[in-house]
Amino acid sequence: MTTRFLTGITPSGIPHLGNYAGAIRPSVRSQWGADVDNFYFLADLHSLIKSQNPAQTQQSTLEIAATWIACGLDTDKVTFYRQSDIPEIPQLSWLLTCVTGKGLLNRAHAYKASVDKNREAGLDDDADVTAGLFMYPVLMAADIMMFKAHKVPVGRDQVQHIEMARDMAASFNHIYGQGQELLVLPEAVVDEQVATLPGLDGRKMSKSYGNTIPLFTPREQLRKLIMGIATDSRTPGEPKDTEGSAIFQLYQAFASTEETASMAKAFADGIAWGDAKAQLFERVDAELSPMRSVFDELMADPGKIEAILLQGAEKARTVATPLLAEMKKAVGLRDLR
Ligand code: TYM
Repeated sequence: MTTRFLTGITPSGIPHLGNYAGAIRPSVRSQWGADVDNFYFLADLHSLIKSQNPAQTQQSTLEIAATWIACGLDTDKVTFYRQSDIPEIPQLSWLLTCVTGKGLLNRAHAYKASVDKNREAGLDDDADVTAGLFMYPVLMAADIMMFKAHKVPVGRDQVQHIEMARDMAASFNHIYGQGQELLVLPEAVVDEQVATLPGLDGRKMSKSYGNTIPLFTPREQLRKLIMGIATDSRTPGEPKDTEGSAIFQLYQAFASTEETASMAKAFADGIAWGDAKAQLFERVDAELSPMRSVFDELMADPGKIEAILLQGAEKARTVATPLLAEMKKAVGLRDLR
């Protein structure tokens, strides 16, 4: 049986190394497997939750599309599209909304984090929380169900969302399936080695912490950023812990097993932080520099990116349209195609 993989990335700002190692690279690598069918998309509807700047939304969508292609996505082989080009997704999202307990959404990490922040600031729990943020996991579940994806390659921060999507699919099947599996229960696929890539300050690399390393930053800028990663005060010659070291974790995400083992030895032998960072920089730059040139070429020709996305949307809709019709029928709605 063919296994269908699906993953998305939210176009909110320039993609960073965490997005690359956590989602883009594993997806691009998995596109070549036998018996796999891959769906990759730009979650631009999700981006409206974070950004209400139209020019930025458009620019960022182009950048992320160019990134995937530059990272080696074969858009003839896989299905690569923009979420908002598939109007069936928000429709399916509503069908799922109506079988999803509010209590389930109350437990979503992103929502809870906003509530906690508001409480700390002495504000109302939901002070600045939009209904979009609250409903985020339902739209994400619709993204996955729309294409009957079995496996969803993501970073660790998204695992809870996939578990919620499973709950929603199970409720939908229970209520409407009459013993049949109408919607597929998806599974998260997390690359343990790079589950959460740390950022410049050692915390999870995240746009919201402002600690990211942009993926296609020019070489010299990349060097500067890597040389500036926070380290402890251990001096050259003093043994260093690999555990909890941002330098080591980043290196591991970009190096082979043998290279990682020799870096671990160098840590035990007391490598100077400056040398470890220089090696990290060379490793990251060697992997990224060929992609950087393709990215720059594509960004100079946005029409080409648009054409690829539109072709992808057509392909995606050949799956989405009949599936939505089937789901509407299952819940007792008429499909007006
Ligand atoms: P987003 O855009 O925040 O992140 C895209 C992917 O990158 C992973 N990631 C990381 N991985 C390792 N280390 C990090 N520091 C790091 N930061 C981000 C994320 O886990 C994610 O896999 N909600 C999703 C987009 C989405 C989606 C979907 C994904 C919408 N619908 C359906 C899968 C299936 C998001 O905002 O990811």
